[in-house]
Amino acid sequence: MSEIARRLNQCRRPTGDVGKIVVENMNESHYNLTTWGLEKIDVNKNCFILDIGCGGGKTVNRLAEKAESGKVYGMDYSDDCVKWSIDLNKKLIDENKVEIFQGTAESIPFKNEKFDLITAVETIYFWPNIKGCFEEIKRILKIEGTFVIINEMYRSDKFKERNEKFEEVGNMNIFSSDELELLLKDVGFGKIEIDLIEDKNWLRCMCKKNK
Ligand SMILES: C[S@@+](CC[C@H](N)C(=O)[O-])C[C@H]1O[C@@H](n2cnc3c(N)ncnc32)[C@H](O)[C@@H]1O
Repeated sequence: MSEIARRLNQCRRPTGDVGKIVVENMNESHYNLTTWGLEKIDVNKNCFILDIGCGGGKTVNRLAEKAESGKVYGMDYSDDCVKWSIDLNKKLIDENKVEIFQGTAESIPFKNEKFDLITAVETIYFWPNIKGCFEEIKRILKIEGTFVIINEMYRSDKFKERNEKFEEVGNMNIFSSDELELLLKDVGFGKIEIDLIEDKNWLRCMCKKNK
């Protein structure tokens, strides 16, 4: 297996000693991306938030600082990521402000309309049946609740060569902004707003569950 394939495999489902290094690296390297991705989101202090594919738990940690009277849940299908996210958020978990659990985007163990905000940072590339996952997210969002996708890569001519290689080697889906918009519309999300930073190939997509 090539070095790139190994790295992408670890991004898909971090595990073991190498996964720990990758996750610690992502906690740092996704910091600026996530800051930009969330800058238009008004996280009020009573928010109930779910971060899907929480990896090393840094985004959960940051969101919990804002939602000080609410609660932030982090979910990942990698057992090791759950463990590392728990380690990072130990204090907030003890204060009942954070909960981390193992689960997949295809079937999220919450009742309907629980969350004000759901975030997905650098993870949707790996989700099977993306439409089914979006439907599941819509189900557990409150009416007028917000779903935010933050990606370091979207399909574009400028990054075509790199992105197509990643898709092939990493067995992942790098969506264009039009594709994402269409998928979200199909599922019934409204107020879809997509911003791009073309030079960096960054994408943030915000949408709401309609009334
Ligand atoms: C590239 S990492 C990003 C981690 C973190 N969000 C960050 O920005 O550092 C992708 C994460 O999504 C998780 N993941 C991938 N597919 C998933 C799925 N279907 N359900 C839940 N988690 C998933 C992986 O285990 C991994 O932790």
